[in-house]
Amino acid sequence: MMKVLTVCLGNICRSPAAKGILEYLAKEKGLDLHVESAGTAAFHIGKLPDARSIKTLKSVGIDITQQRARQICVEDFHEFDWIVAMDSENLANLKHIQPLSSKANVVMFGCYRDGVNFGEVDDPYYGGDAGFEAMKVQLFSIADDFLANAYE
Ligand code: 4NP
Repeated sequence: MMKVLTVCLGNICRSPAAKGILEYLAKEKGLDLHVESAGTAAFHIGKLPDARSIKTLKSVGIDITQQRARQICVEDFHEFDWIVAMDSENLANLKHIQPLSSKANVVMFGCYRDGVNFGEVDDPYYGGDAGFEAMKVQLFSIADDFLANAYE
């Protein structure tokens, strides 16, 4: 079984959506994949995903309401095969705390897709619903290319 940890800043907008989408695509493709999500920051520990992420994903039949925010920890680097960052700040923070003995591939989630703003998933937190729709569309295409690469 392959294990992937999706990571953003607060673990309430992008990475819970990325987990829901990866699980949905893995099921559709018959892949044996375990996915969790985490944040680099501690502000939202224990919280549900943002209501706008929940609504956007619900519109395509994906329920993310069982998720609760948590912060990344050192053990994650030994547990997961892939730790995927949503933006370059998340990636820099992950590289900073990654233990030398880590087994995880720590990469930008969007790095296997061309043309998406250097692989970054824009933070929709301070914007409106349109930003969450754009995030969903972007995450679907990124997740597809990520899985094609990870299982090639
Ligand atoms: P996320 O979005 O990293 O995609 O979960 C954010 C959520 C909360 C905050 C920033 C980004 N915040 O500053 O509280």
